[in-house]
Amino acid sequence: MAEAAYKTITVKPLAPHLGAEIHGLDLSQPMSNAQFDDLHTAFLKHHVIFFRDQTLTPEQHLAFGRRWGTLNIHPYVKSMAGHPEILEIIKEPTERINFGGGWHSDMSFLEVPALGSILHAIEVPEVGGDTLFASQYAAWDALSPGLKATLEGLRAIHSAAEEYGAGGASSKKRASMDSEVVGDEVPEYEHPVVRTHPETGRKGLYINPAFTLRFAGWTKKESRPLLEYLFEVCRREVYTCRFRWQPGSIAMWDNRCVWHYALNDYHGARRHMRRVTVNGDVVR
Ligand code: SIN
Repeated sequence: MAEAAYKTITVKPLAPHLGAEIHGLDLSQPMSNAQFDDLHTAFLKHHVIFFRDQTLTPEQHLAFGRRWGTLNIHPYVKSMAGHPEILEIIKEPTERINFGGGWHSDMSFLEVPALGSILHAIEVPEVGGDTLFASQYAAWDALSPGLKATLEGLRAIHSAAEEYGAGGASSKKRASMDSEVVGDEVPEYEHPVVRTHPETGRKGLYINPAFTLRFAGWTKKESRPLLEYLFEVCRREVYTCRFRWQPGSIAMWDNRCVWHYALNDYHGARRHMRRVTVNGDVVR
């Protein structure tokens, strides 16, 4: 059922903890401030918002992204020709490894990670290739007061070494998307384990299996059991929603409080998406 609070759009929630479909907007057209305010409200409330039947040129995709902030240029993955702020996320029928095929939060390996990502489907498999999303507010809310008190004092080390570094497995096997580490080392950055969302003030867990290596001041071996326990809470099915793509679908998610996972269940078919990533702020 649509929510009543909006003047310019229709918002239909998809799952209890996150996700809503947005109707009544053509994202290829300039957006009024009233429309943007409604969309922004829906984004903060539902953490991931979905649109159908949108036809965006790269320029229109970038213009929509710029309504939310400055745009990121990925430090390791080659961008679309002529558009450094667009990632072409492609899996060819001959490939086995996909991009984003594990739970993560985009760009947590940066000193200033991403606010949000805007993914536009160009070509999708007949069946499969859905994306899962999980609320990290819900994961935090589920923890006991004792564990919350322990985590409040912790920080964690994030890095893209496993994904994009010399020993990183996945990028090397993905022929259609070039990635490259410039220099010898992939940097590490430290963020609080519990993040207070800069706009909503809500707390959420800010760790993820792809980019969080260990707790600051702890060894990897010491960190593993607690990280594994937390990851299990973070990906609990009840805190997720699942999106079935069609050509022209768009998803925009809030990396400050959401994980996502691109399912890799469509070998032999082609999937082609374009992503614009909005820069965020220092994690607090
Ligand atoms: C990503 O991790 O940004 C890719 C998500 C997807 O392709 O569904």
